[in-house]
Amino acid sequence: MPEKVAYIWEIVTDKNYTGKGIANHLIKYITEKYQDFTIYSCIDLTNIASLKLHEKNGFHTLYEFEKRHDDGSISYHNMMVREGK
Ligand SMILES: CC(C)(COP(=O)(O)OP(=O)(O)OC[C@H]1O[C@@H](n2cnc3c(N)ncnc32)[C@H](O)[C@@H]1OP(=O)(O)O)[C@@H](O)C(=O)NCCC(=O)NCCS
Repeated sequence: MPEKVAYIWEIVTDKNYTGKGIANHLIKYITEKYQDFTIYSCIDLTNIASLKLHEKNGFHTLYEFEKRHDDGSISYHNMMVREGK
């Protein structure tokens, strides 16, 4: 386990302002500020925008998993990681 660990809980851009580079700016700020941290972020596998955003910023897949909900539905997720320097 790395010594310094951070977790991105959620990145959300107001839907009136998507596609303008806001989330990219935010994730760059985080990865530069915490460049010596290993950063994890969990993304729904159907969330192409978020997967691409993370890949573009140096994250890669650590593992994929499925989550079974109380209503019987299943969702699929990708745990992504960006290793610290
Ligand atoms: C995912 C989200 C945060 C992206 O925010 P954004 O400010 O629109 O993103 P940006 O404009 O900074 O785009 C950065 C990169 O993300 C990816 N991206 C963003 N929107 C995309 C889309 N609709 N389709 C595919 N890729 C997309 C691209 O790689 C893009 O880089 P590029 O423009 O050079 O191709 C935004 O769509 C959102 O708030 N979604 C709902 C909440 C959510 O799902 N959050 C993530 C939970 S983990």
